[in-house]
Amino acid sequence: MPKPAPADAAQPVVSPLTSAAMFLVLTVADGGEDAVRDLVPDLSAYARAVGFGRPDAGLACVTGFGSAVWDRLFAGPRPAELHPFVALDGPQHSAPSTPGDILLHLRAESLDVCYDFADHVLTRLGGAVEVVDEVHGWRYQDRRDLLGFVDGTENPEGVEAFDAALVDAERDLDFVGGSYVIVQKYLHDMAAWNALSDREQELVIGRTKAGNVQLPDDSLPKTSHVDRNTIVGEDGEERDILRANMPFGSFKEGEAGTYFIGYCATPTVTEQMLLNMFLGDENGNRDRILDFSTAVTGGLFFVPPTGFLDDPPPAPDADPDADSAPATPAAPAVLAAPTAPTANPRPTD
Ligand code: HEM
Repeated sequence: MPKPAPADAAQPVVSPLTSAAMFLVLTVADGGEDAVRDLVPDLSAYARAVGFGRPDAGLACVTGFGSAVWDRLFAGPRPAELHPFVALDGPQHSAPSTPGDILLHLRAESLDVCYDFADHVLTRLGGAVEVVDEVHGWRYQDRRDLLGFVDGTENPEGVEAFDAALVDAERDLDFVGGSYVIVQKYLHDMAAWNALSDREQELVIGRTKAGNVQLPDDSLPKTSHVDRNTIVGEDGEERDILRANMPFGSFKEGEAGTYFIGYCATPTVTEQMLLNMFLGDENGNRDRILDFSTAVTGGLFFVPPTGFLDDPPPAPDADPDADSAPATPAAPAVLAAPTAPTANPRPTD
C-alpha cells in the first residue's frame, strides 16, 4: 500500500494561527508508562469529542514525545533524529534544557476548548504524569508579541509549510508525516525593552514596528533577530521552520513572555537558528533579542504521525525482537550546517 502523503498522515502541525493556545509539558512517572501508552490511541477521540460540538473553535491538538521517554514507551524503530534538547551556554546568554517527556500543543479560537481536551487527558492519566510547565497563550493585538512586533509573518505557507514541517519518506520511512518540535519559554525584560526608542527596537528585530516590513539589507544589523534566523543551505535556498509562538503574561508572577514553538522536518534547522542566536557567528554577532528575553525552558519532542498514535507499538519489553541494550539517541547535530532538503510528498490540492 502506498504511504499516505504527510498532509493526511500528520497531526495538525500545519494549522492556522488561533486566538488561544495551551502549552503543557509533562513528565511521565516511573511506572506511568502503561497508562500513557494506553491513552495514546484515544487522543484523536478526545479531540473529536471536544472539537465536534465546537466547529467554530478550530481545535488542533498536537502531541509530542521526548527522547528519553520514547524508549520507555515504545518498542521498534525510533525517529531517526530524536535526541534531547541541546542546552546552549553562550558568552552572554544561555538556553537551558529542562525536564519534559510529553508536549501537548493545543490551539483553538478560545481557551476553554483547549482546557476541555487537557482535562480529559490529564484526568485519565492521573498520577502517571506530572505537569512541569503550563502556559496559556493568547493573541495580542494584531498578532503582536509583547515586545510590540507582529510575530509569524515570514512563516512558510501552503505546500511550503508542509515541506518545512513534516518528515518525508526520504528522511525517515518509518515516520512519514511526523515533525520535530522545539519549545522554549522566554521572559521579557519589559522595562529595558521599553527604554529603547522604536527605531532601536526595529534594529533589534530587523523589521519595522508599525508597518511590519523587513529592514532593507543595507540597514539590517547582523545582530538582528531576522538576520540571525535567516538560514541558507548549501544550495542557496532558505531553510524554514513553522512557528506558532504565543504571548503570555501574569501580573501576579510579574511575567511577560513569548512561548516559542517551532516545527521542522529535521531538528537541525531550528538548532542552527539557536546556535546563531545564542553563540553567534565568527564575528561575535549574537541575537540582540536575547538582551531583552531570557529562555527559561527548553525541550525537543517528536510529533509522530497519526497512524502511529492510533496504533502505537507495544511496550519495549513486549517486543520479542527488542534489543536488551537501551536504544541510543541519535547524535545531536550541533554546530552542523542544516542538512540538504529532500523532496517532501506534497498535499494534494
Ligand atoms: C521572526 C519574535 C524566538 C525563529 C520573528 C519576528 C518576530 C519574532 C517579531 C519577525 C516577524 C516574523 O515572524 O517573521 C520572536 C520572539 C522570540 C523569538 C519574541 C522569543 C523571545 C525565536 C526563536 C527562533 C526564532 C527561538 C528559532 C529558534 C524565527 C524565524 C523568523 C523569526 C525563523 C523569520 C525570519 C525571516 O525569515 O524573516 N521572530 N522570535 N524566533 N523568528 Fe523569532
